[in-house]
Amino acid sequence: MMQVAMVGATGVVGQELERVARERGFPARSWRLLASERSAGRAVSWCGQQRAVEPLRADSFAGVDLAFFSAGAAVSREFAPHALRAGARVIDNSSAFRMEPQVPLVVPEVNAGALRDEHRLIANPNCSTIILVLALAPLHCANPVRRVVVSTYQAASGAGAQALTELEEQTRAVLSGGRAEPRVFPVPCAFNVFSHNTPIGGDGYNTEESKIIAETRKILDSPEIAIAPTCMRVPVLRAHLESLSIEFSRPMDPEQARSILSAAPGVRVLDDRQAGRFPTSLDASGIDPVLVGRVRRDPSVPEGRGLQLICAGDQLRKGAALNAIQVAELVSGVATSDGTFQAVGRRRGP
Ligand SMILES: NC(=O)c1ccc[n+]([C@@H]2O[C@H](COP(=O)([O-])OP(=O)(O)OC[C@H]3O[C@@H](n4cnc5c(N)ncnc54)[C@H](OP(=O)(O)O)[C@@H]3O)[C@@H](O)[C@H]2O)c1
Repeated sequence: MMQVAMVGATGVVGQELERVARERGFPARSWRLLASERSAGRAVSWCGQQRAVEPLRADSFAGVDLAFFSAGAAVSREFAPHALRAGARVIDNSSAFRMEPQVPLVVPEVNAGALRDEHRLIANPNCSTIILVLALAPLHCANPVRRVVVSTYQAASGAGAQALTELEEQTRAVLSGGRAEPRVFPVPCAFNVFSHNTPIGGDGYNTEESKIIAETRKILDSPEIAIAPTCMRVPVLRAHLESLSIEFSRPMDPEQARSILSAAPGVRVLDDRQAGRFPTSLDASGIDPVLVGRVRRDPSVPEGRGLQLICAGDQLRKGAALNAIQVAELVSGVATSDGTFQAVGRRRGP
């Protein structure tokens, strides 16, 4: 049994991690709950007990075996080295270390093979990337993907607890005849769809889009895949939905893709054309698997090498907390990686 620290215990990801750990019986002997000075002494319900939150300090990790970080990249950059020096293994939800070559970036169903016992710092990928690769990896394994165009429809809670509250408050305000006052997002979130609220780089892509490109290539060990993302926010509380147009190396039949996806770990196919039942953000909320549907031929790609589909996943759960707990289960020997698509890039066919 481990002594575990949770940095960001009061955040939406921290709170979801508590739920996932409790549901899965994660073997923690005790938890040290850490957040900013603002939350010092605040009581939270954690794995069946009322616990006080402590302010994060350099010496917070004495005796800690495993530390989950979920408090943003700046906090991870400053405090993860302290946790590592204190002897803890770190699983980081932020973007701070994801692209460092020596840091594994892991989605257990896809590339558990990238994990080794000597890894003390492990990065959890971006939430949109996790949802994308769960649908893409099994198909890529069967028939190498040349190019994917992905558009995201991302929930407000992807931007944290305050953004979630902002959507709820704005919705109430507008429905009672008031105005939606933006504070967290740059524009009103309620009853609106807008470009993802991360900074735009010199190439015109926002940070979320750039993360999807770089992280997908790293996880799939396939730097040659062409990826064109567009990330959007929609007025949804939780779960991101994504639309994918995929160009394969060889012809790919929708039926074949459905059958591959039906057998893929972490994926559930919901594709009932007659009943009109396809993945929605609400269907995906609160569940572990990523839902995939609307699988159809892309007539704009020659030789039957193109498919379109949508996928939806709970970005707080599989996109963050569940993935982190699954990684922790692997590195602590609670789970094994049998049945996963290990080292996808190396297993691909010609
Ligand atoms: N939301 C998602 O869907 C999602 C998905 C994947 C990854 N992530 C990543 O997960 C991390 C947390 O996101 P979130 O959505 O949970 O954000 P959040 O709801 O805003 O929570 C942020 C957490 O970080 C703590 N924190 C902030 N500044 C701190 C500081 N200086 N020292 C110590 N603790 C500090 C906060 O504590 P206080 O309550 O005391 O302020 C809170 O516990 C981010 O890196 C984010 O990119 C989020």
